Amino acid sequence: MSIIVQNMTKRFGRTEVLRGIDLTIESGELVALLGPSGSGKTTLLKIIAGLEWPDAGRLQVEGADWLQLAAQDRRIGFVFQHYALFPHMTVRDNIAFGLTVRPRAERPGKAVIDAKVDELLEFLQIAPLGERYPLQLSGGQRQRVALGRALAIQPTVLLLDEPFGALDAAVRRDLRQWLRGVHDATGSTTIFVTHDQEEAFELADRVVVMGEGRIEQIGHADQIVDHPASPFVARFMGATIELPVTLTAGRAEGEGLDLSHLPRRALPDGPATLFLRPADVTPVPTANGRWRICRLTSTGSLLRVDLDEGGTPGFSVDLPRRAPQARALTVGTRVNLAPEAGALFSTVAERSSPARGDTTQPLKEHSA
Ligand SMILES: Nc1ncnc2c1ncn2[C@@H]1O[C@H](COP(=O)(O)OP(=O)(O)OP(=O)(O)O)[C@@H](O)[C@H]1O
Ligand SMILES: [Mg+2]
Repeated sequence: MSIIVQNMTKRFGRTEVLRGIDLTIESGELVALLGPSGSGKTTLLKIIAGLEWPDAGRLQVEGADWLQLAAQDRRIGFVFQHYALFPHMTVRDNIAFGLTVRPRAERPGKAVIDAKVDELLEFLQIAPLGERYPLQLSGGQRQRVALGRALAIQPTVLLLDEPFGALDAAVRRDLRQWLRGVHDATGSTTIFVTHDQEEAFELADRVVVMGEGRIEQIGHADQIVDHPASPFVARFMGATIELPVTLTAGRAEGEGLDLSHLPRRALPDGPATLFLRPADVTPVPTANGRWRICRLTSTGSLLRVDLDEGGTPGFSVDLPRRAPQARALTVGTRVNLAPEAGALFSTVAERSSPARGDTTQPLKEHSA
């Protein structure tokens, strides 16, 4: 089912929660909504599910106007952010719930429901757990049951609101791959909400970055990281270093910076801000370099290099601990910086970047 959201707005009281959302999702696509807390992700999902109504805008699914349809007529599978299974029901009964509450005329017979639940238990890899109660399950097993419950009604659209939020990193990674398999096998159109960049990039065909009720950028992992559409996206993607530079004929220059690796940019001459991710910057020992190393910390795989400038604490950069360059660094060494990659924005145009919006075509193959 293709989903088209057009110019959608929503406020709660005086808070503008969605400020003109335009989003097209292809049938069978898995899209991740990524954004900070309060950016409107859950609200958008609830509107698609029919649990909330927008103030303006359109929602079309496979050509039909879904704003005219009640939630129960939309065939949506929804796993909520703070999802609770029914504690007094077994795993089997939880999964069967959506089928057993159908109106009598549409309700499948008991044998059909049993067979469907068996199939799902098998598919979700929780076959031995059918007679257990939710409290007798691990967090990861509960999330599988929650998904089973969403899938039982054979949804054409699957909406997942941070389904793995409460789980530890290793379990999340397992469930992520498993979920991608579930999505591919069922052919549903899936929207997945997460705070976690790595999760979004690993799982989704395309990632939608939201900030303050707007879509800031839509793209694949590399596009969003290498070509953030706005300072907001650059910061959200981990560019914690912001340095003033000067642009001349598309080339950036700044004191102590070797910017020869950065491509020429079609930006006006004048002041600009260079946004850098700590892992994209190599410190180059230089006599009278602009920065001084004030601390070195190993995290096992990375060496964190804290820099100060004229005695004022600056920022830190990361490099692989075993990289040859890392050996030459000691506290007190003076360095300049040679970024491998970085994003540039004209200082004047900060809030009105023209590049915002969809930077990609849908990609069907999932590259792991
Ligand atoms: N029913 C409601 N009444 C009033 N305000 C609401 C309501 N639901 C959400 N909001 C507000 O709308 C904004 C967006 O909320 P939403 O839940 O969509 O954000 P989110 O991106 O899902 O955040 P999180 O990552 O924390 O889940 C927030 O400021 C929130 O306080
Ligand atoms: Mg939310």
